Amino acid sequence: MTAKVIDGKAFAAEVRTKVASHVTRLKEENGITPGLAVVLVGEDPASQVYVRSKGKQTVEVGMNSYEHKLDVDTSEADLLALIDRLNKDATVHGILVQLPLPKHLDSDLVINSIDPAKDVDGFHISNVGLLGTGQKSMVPCTPLGCLMMLRDHHGSLAGMDAVVLGRSNIVGKPMAQLLLGDSCTVTIAHSRTKDIADVCRRADIVVAAVGRPEMVPGDWIKPGATVIDVGINRIERDGKTVLVGDVDYASAAAVAGAITPVPGGVGPMTIACLLANTLTACCRANG
Ligand code: GUN
Repeated sequence: MTAKVIDGKAFAAEVRTKVASHVTRLKEENGITPGLAVVLVGEDPASQVYVRSKGKQTVEVGMNSYEHKLDVDTSEADLLALIDRLNKDATVHGILVQLPLPKHLDSDLVINSIDPAKDVDGFHISNVGLLGTGQKSMVPCTPLGCLMMLRDHHGSLAGMDAVVLGRSNIVGKPMAQLLLGDSCTVTIAHSRTKDIADVCRRADIVVAAVGRPEMVPGDWIKPGATVIDVGINRIERDGKTVLVGDVDYASAAAVAGAITPVPGGVGPMTIACLLANTLTACCRANG
């Protein structure tokens, strides 16, 4: 079998087009322009790339983008004061603090200081609790993008066996909650899971979010299963830097029914979902 390639890049472009037309309507009919504030502390190169890309795409769909770049040694008090200002600013509908933060800052404290209604990352403890209890919440962007691709490919996910590899707060845990919400039988596997290959082989859906280059080989995949690869790992190969996922693409694509590539799979969907969440936050704020 050769897997169908799930084109996240094309899907993300469709999502952005829908968001952009909704933004145009909001402006014309209500005089409102959604605004997203992104806060970056320090100069981590990967974070700088992500933040630039988020700002560019925000503007491209017609929203206002507010970038706040702070020194690496910014104090917690100054960062909290900025977030307080953004919470109170009616032109800002979404707030994203780029992670990881420098070590002297308490990420949990900072994230939980964001107004939950503006928490477009869905990382605030209130949104985590709302998602876990099946209530209306802000849903973390990467798992939301994965869910949209799975629903698009399968229609209903009810009754499917899903294995999530990785237990991070950003991807693994919310992904498992979303799949459970769609009536999958969900297993979260991680570095201490026994017989992880066997666990994986039982799955109709595998979501790999471990951050280890090409950790999942094709012989962990049940024939015909759907593989969603969240990993974005830079490795050296043949003297060049290349991007690879957490799945060994060539061997997995030979067995799977459908698979997301890296790059061009989950990555583009994450920012598209951030824009969709910002629009949602704006619509909820304006009744
Ligand atoms: N760093 C890596 N992924 C993310 C994300 O989804 N949101 C934020 N805020 N920081 C990140």
